Amino acid sequence: MQKEGQDWVYTDIVKEHFLNPRNFLMGDESQFKYDACGLVGNPICGDQMKMYIKVKDDRIVDIRWKTYGCASAIASTSALSELAKGKTLDEALKITAKDIDDYLGTLPKHKFHCSVLGHEALADAISNYRAKTL
Ligand code: FES
Repeated sequence: MQKEGQDWVYTDIVKEHFLNPRNFLMGDESQFKYDACGLVGNPICGDQMKMYIKVKDDRIVDIRWKTYGCASAIASTSALSELAKGKTLDEALKITAKDIDDYLGTLPKHKFHCSVLGHEALADAISNYRAKTL
């Protein structure tokens, strides 16, 4: 929980994930052999997120992402990628923006919408994976 007057403060965990994002796709898409990809834009700010998943036995065995998003989007998607790896597709879909916020020790309130971007890209990737494998 943030203290009064700390709405503009990033926690140390947020800063650490922003500076060292987990599962970030360096280079182009040929660097990661994925089974499905999701792409979404944030209607509030216009930023975009792409999510790539590798799936085995209905479980996310590996994950990568890239974004034009802000520091909050980068930190939250880094956290999301850690939370989603190893989960079944249904379990991954149940990860909420609040789970990400809790993992990061909270985001500034006015940046909460940024944490939704990664989750929506992941949901799109899972939907595309399921459409391919039906
Ligand atoms: S301001 Fe666009 S994702 Fe954060």
